[in-house]
Amino acid sequence: MIFGSDNMAPVHPAAMAALAQANTGYTTSYGTEDAMKQVTAQIRDLFEAPEAAVYLVATGTAANALALAVYTQPYQSVFCHELAHVNMDECGAPEFFTNGAKLVELTGADGKITPDTLRAKAAGFRNPDIHRVQFGSLSIANVTETGSVYTPAEITALTAAARDCGMASYLDGARLANAIVAAGCTPAEMTWKAGIDVVSFGGTKNGLMGVEAVILFDPQKAWEFELRRKRAGHLFSKHRFLAAQMQAYLRDDLWRQLASRANAAGAELEQALASVDGFAPLYRRDANLMFAKWPRAGHERAQAAGAYYYDEPEAHGKNGAPDDLLTARLVCNWNTTSEEIAQFAALVRG
Ligand SMILES: Cc1ncc(COP(=O)(O)O)c(C=O)c1O
Repeated sequence: MIFGSDNMAPVHPAAMAALAQANTGYTTSYGTEDAMKQVTAQIRDLFEAPEAAVYLVATGTAANALALAVYTQPYQSVFCHELAHVNMDECGAPEFFTNGAKLVELTGADGKITPDTLRAKAAGFRNPDIHRVQFGSLSIANVTETGSVYTPAEITALTAAARDCGMASYLDGARLANAIVAAGCTPAEMTWKAGIDVVSFGGTKNGLMGVEAVILFDPQKAWEFELRRKRAGHLFSKHRFLAAQMQAYLRDDLWRQLASRANAAGAELEQALASVDGFAPLYRRDANLMFAKWPRAGHERAQAAGAYYYDEPEAHGKNGAPDDLLTARLVCNWNTTSEEIAQFAALVRG
């Protein structure tokens, strides 16, 4: 009953097998190996972007910070949701790698920014006033940090608003596979066809050991990304092991299969909990991640039996009333089973 994070899931056997298979003999390093050439060709194919530049890094934070740095000068801004991973959970990496660009927080229901909110916030910046930070980029995540999914139409409207201000658009795709499956669209429809300039295509949360692709749809930006990746210490010498994982991910659309399983588990979990007295989702759930409240007694029963998820530690530590409604973040993954879900829901229900 592990709903802590999709990062906590094991590596899919196909990715482990690909790593073992890559571990034979010698090959060139630093991304010059044949496997990376194949990955680039396959990702260009998958995203219908024959000119795109494709790079691999090992963490989502590196993907976000380096991609944003390519599009954001130190005297510019990154507009993002106040709950964005880039804003809340990266220890200032986007600010660091952009050499000090300002993150501008926007609000919005279900973890999403709307074009109207973006325009209203941008209006307060009076660019190009010398006293104001200048417009740089918009950063959105899909799946969002609260578990909702932007549709391609929503992204198109948002990137158009950003473009009107002169901003580029970045999509944090740590869970892009889950978002694409949930939206029922193609990778191209969710990204460049919707006005996205650069996207990360996450693998770590969806069955890989640790790899994210950064896809720059403007090849003119490729060299700058390469230099920034090296300078940041994120160019792996034994790059073949990043490439091997990504190859496994792309083979037979493993990324889609695993995301479909995780999303289906998310739906099943939400449905199983819906009948719990006092259960209330905090946000719309579209994929494998959700926030919800239910009575303290249900949390205590589930946690005593070994269930693991992020909660409100300060509230759980105290002796409050059994019917206090406490918040949880629950994340399913490719390996979540129906048995775990049923057992967990039964414990919460009591
Ligand atoms: C939306 C989002 N972006 C990016 C990341 C990547 O983070 P990490 O650097 O931990 O791989 C995460 C991980 O939790 C995330 O949820």
